[in-house]
Amino acid sequence: MSSLPPPFALNSRVLAVDAPPIPEAQAWKTLYSGDAGPMIDLSQAVPSTPPPASVLKALGEAAASSEASRYGPILGDARLRAAHAAETGRIYRAELLESQVAITAGCNQAFVSVMMALAGAGDSVILPAPWYFNHRMTLDMLGIDVDILPARPEAGFVPDVEEAAYLIRPSTRAIILVSPNNPTGAVYPPNVIAAFAALCRARSIALVLDETYRDFLAPGAPPHRLFQAVDWGDTLISLYSFSKAHAIPGHRLGAVMASSAVITELAKWLDCIQICPARAAQGVIARAITEERDWRLAQADDLAQRAEATRQAFARLNGWSLVTAGAYFAFVRHPYEDARAVDVARRLALEAGVLALPGSYFGPGQEQHLRFAFANVDSKTIAEIPHRIAMLT
Ligand SMILES: Cc1ncc(COP(=O)(O)O)c(C=O)c1O
Repeated sequence: MSSLPPPFALNSRVLAVDAPPIPEAQAWKTLYSGDAGPMIDLSQAVPSTPPPASVLKALGEAAASSEASRYGPILGDARLRAAHAAETGRIYRAELLESQVAITAGCNQAFVSVMMALAGAGDSVILPAPWYFNHRMTLDMLGIDVDILPARPEAGFVPDVEEAAYLIRPSTRAIILVSPNNPTGAVYPPNVIAAFAALCRARSIALVLDETYRDFLAPGAPPHRLFQAVDWGDTLISLYSFSKAHAIPGHRLGAVMASSAVITELAKWLDCIQICPARAAQGVIARAITEERDWRLAQADDLAQRAEATRQAFARLNGWSLVTAGAYFAFVRHPYEDARAVDVARRLALEAGVLALPGSYFGPGQEQHLRFAFANVDSKTIAEIPHRIAMLT
């Protein structure tokens, strides 16, 4: 296979975007001697356990059905749309409708399709930095300008709404937030999310809120109260992933919650890019939403323990400081002033067998940070991290 560029032109916006970053970090694994012990891979955010056995069995049966091999509705099967609306309504104490849900091939596709519905080339959005790199890649490839809203370590990586207000210009179509956050693990307080929504409403722009990790918050008060307003759909577009909460990233299911009018427009893009979401898992997950609630609660509890184990692990290390941790991630300040994050991460992989992602993968000004996806490993393995990191010279 040739790696030479093709003899025809490619979209210059695609060419201008860097290659997906995770394979670069994963490649360091092949260079590791193994001397420090088995590689502790904290790079990509992946559920560390499979789905419950009953879900796996049902997935197999569903995949073998002739129904799953047919096209389905563009916006997803009615049962899953209704179940997602009901469960989201239960968590947020609001009444939500099937017509306000679109099922997508994962949350990444939810984001891409929402952005294509909201903005065109030359329009702009406000994006906090550090960001989830696929968000930035999507916006760059679509030609949507990004106005960067810095989320600072001294503010627990929670962006400031007044700063956002200054960035709004006539071309602004949306503010994008992710809570609980990837990469920082920061959980935005409900009043901060409410303030962003109020700003978006006052300036007639959308608030796009990626809630991929919402199921990993401690049970109790809703993550925010936006859905409780009858006209929430005039401002909010909420994105969700079934990948992490149900441990089915390979089955590619996500969702958009928006007003029925927005969902109707979104259907035009979804018809073109997916025709329908993959069928087999939809009915299974529609049932699991209610039947496996306890399993999800146990997973969330387990992750909270891993977050605590990660806090304790870094507290034992001189020079390193864990700035924020939540859901799947810890964002950690390394002690090597002036070193590039990518060099620190590479050394950590090669010398200590710990694979973390450099902060620079998530935007400018992050050279001092590394992201550890502690969700990937159990607490016993997390406890080993300080010994490994101490091996760095
Ligand atoms: C913030 C955020 N959004 C979206 C996704 C993608 O999720 P999915 O597997 O549903 O496409 C991820 C996955 O890591 C994520 O961290």
